[in-house]
Amino acid sequence: MPIENDSASLDEIESITLSHYENRATSFWQGTRDHDVSQNIESLLQALPKDKPLDILDFGCGPGRDLQTFKSLGHQPVGLDGSKAFCQMAEEFSECPVLHQQFLSLELKENSFDGIFANASLFHIPSIELARVLGQLHRALRSGGVFFSSNPRGNTEGWQGERYGHYMEIESSRAYLENAGFKVIHHYYRPEGQPLEQQPWLAIVSEALPKGS
Ligand SMILES: C[S@@+](CC[C@H](N)C(=O)[O-])C[C@H]1O[C@@H](n2cnc3c(N)ncnc32)[C@H](O)[C@@H]1O
Repeated sequence: MPIENDSASLDEIESITLSHYENRATSFWQGTRDHDVSQNIESLLQALPKDKPLDILDFGCGPGRDLQTFKSLGHQPVGLDGSKAFCQMAEEFSECPVLHQQFLSLELKENSFDGIFANASLFHIPSIELARVLGQLHRALRSGGVFFSSNPRGNTEGWQGERYGHYMEIESSRAYLENAGFKVIHHYYRPEGQPLEQQPWLAIVSEALPKGS
């Protein structure tokens, strides 16, 4: 059930979900630092110019695994996370700048990124706020910028233990993205090489259409 547009509930969603991560930051890092998301990183980079270092926002960067990968590939990644513990871990591990910001109160400069990488993070935004946040991400991208997202798929919304999630399949994801000014370039399911029913993750690569179009 989607929640009502009530700022107290939205605050609660962010603070309870973020506390969940904050309280197990070290074990989350141990459990995810070796996850192979190279397919996702390559999908974003494939859709962007190859001949220059790129400004990439890792949206919900967690402890910094993917910041470090983008940096090792010669890019200029910046992390963003609402968990203070993750921001510190990500800065130390990757030596990249990390913004301590919450998804529902972003302060991003317009036209400042070539790409945004949202690996396992966008689904934490309640449906009622998603159009607004996607609009902010669109504005933060430069013309021709690319947005990558990977989320657990489904057709539900609500609490899963202490974490709030909004799960979508490709059709509703596409509708949100298009309304915010993106064009879906392609999508795929993960893990690779499994039958669809054993692929719980939906990855989408979208291009930011020019503002105002
Ligand atoms: C499943 S983890 C993914 C972390 C990392 N991208 C990865 O692939 O390992 C979700 C991340 O989103 C962050 N997050 C969740 N809700 C948030 C919010 N409202 N504002 C900012 N960050 C949030 C968490 O702190 C966590 O780092």
